[in-house]
Amino acid sequence: MSLLFSKANLGTLALQNRLVMSPMTRNRATGNLPNELMAQYYGQRASAGLIITEGTSPSPNGLGYPRIPGIFSAAQVAGWKRVTDVVHASGAKMFIQFMHCGRIGHALNLPAGARLLGPSAVAAAGEIYTDAEGMKPNGTPQAMTEADIKATIEEFAQAAKNAVAAGFDGVELHGANGYLLEQFIRPSSNQRTDRYGGSIENRARFVLEVVDAVNNAIGKDKVGIRLSPFGVFNDMPVYDAMEADYTYLAQQLNARGLLYVHLVDHSPMGAPVVPASMKATFRSVFKGALILSGGYDAARAESDLEAGKCDLIAVGRPFLANPDLVARWKTSAAVNAPDMSTFYTPGPKGYIDYPAVSR
Ligand SMILES: Cc1cc2nc3c(=O)[nH]c(=O)nc-3n(C[C@H](O)[C@H](O)[C@H](O)COP(=O)(O)O)c2cc1C
Repeated sequence: MSLLFSKANLGTLALQNRLVMSPMTRNRATGNLPNELMAQYYGQRASAGLIITEGTSPSPNGLGYPRIPGIFSAAQVAGWKRVTDVVHASGAKMFIQFMHCGRIGHALNLPAGARLLGPSAVAAAGEIYTDAEGMKPNGTPQAMTEADIKATIEEFAQAAKNAVAAGFDGVELHGANGYLLEQFIRPSSNQRTDRYGGSIENRARFVLEVVDAVNNAIGKDKVGIRLSPFGVFNDMPVYDAMEADYTYLAQQLNARGLLYVHLVDHSPMGAPVVPASMKATFRSVFKGALILSGGYDAARAESDLEAGKCDLIAVGRPFLANPDLVARWKTSAAVNAPDMSTFYTPGPKGYIDYPAVSR
């Protein structure tokens, strides 16, 4: 009897299995609008228990990459409604990932009037793709004022209401991988001297205020968060107090009664290993559901579920390349390999044309 493929509950949500499709940015949302192609892509993968969308910006200021979707306009809500309808018709539940890119971005990717924001005016090392001029160095963000912080928190809360209006079962706050929320947590990107910088209590304040605002807007039973302790993506170096800082976050998130914490482990992609002790801390301190991700195949997923290390397993690249991943893993069928050259390119190629064996 497989745990991975058996029905489960996530809070009050009934899931058809314990396999979650990880959030994956695919850059098909021309004009930052969810479209029919995206409805088809997600619909093809709706045999998952839960689908988490690609990173979606709650604000024009958060659109650091080209062709990523938003959830702040009426047209975006209408576009996402079509997506959630298609996915729900096939039985999966669906959360939307709120990704405010913060300092990861470039003015060329932002709509008119939007601003590149960060906790401090410190640019991330590295380059970012722009449709207009190709690769460019990440821009230098404007350090957010208290008024910017307040306005951004309000954007998250409004976006959460928009998400519910668009038919999502909940929202996942992207607190991982070097985007705005993590930029506040980490001392390298957060060099503030006010109550949002310095001690971990201060560096965690923005994230926890976003959590509180989103909880108030839609209810804590609809809110999860993704975190990447020990993650280094987007110029986020490891530092001494990492484990202590994330232990504090686990305690604070537990006190707020969120639905789930989703931990990223990108060591299968060459990133530093996330110590087992860190995952165990989240498992023991946080009483809500725990989702683990990173490099899973069916056997490892089953074994971590059986060991009680987590409640659900999230899978990225295998889902990207196999619309019918659940059926393939159930029957130990061969899987398609992902084609990296079409991960972020516009159009249907490498997006909705991976073959299924079961349909
Ligand atoms: C094409 C691509 C896009 C991604 N975009 C996001 C994203 O928008 N948000 C996020 O939290 N993680 C993102 N990730 C990371 C994945 O969610 C996942 O953590 C990673 O692929 C490792 O899991 P896997 O080994 O199952 O693929 C992305 C990964 C890939 C391959």
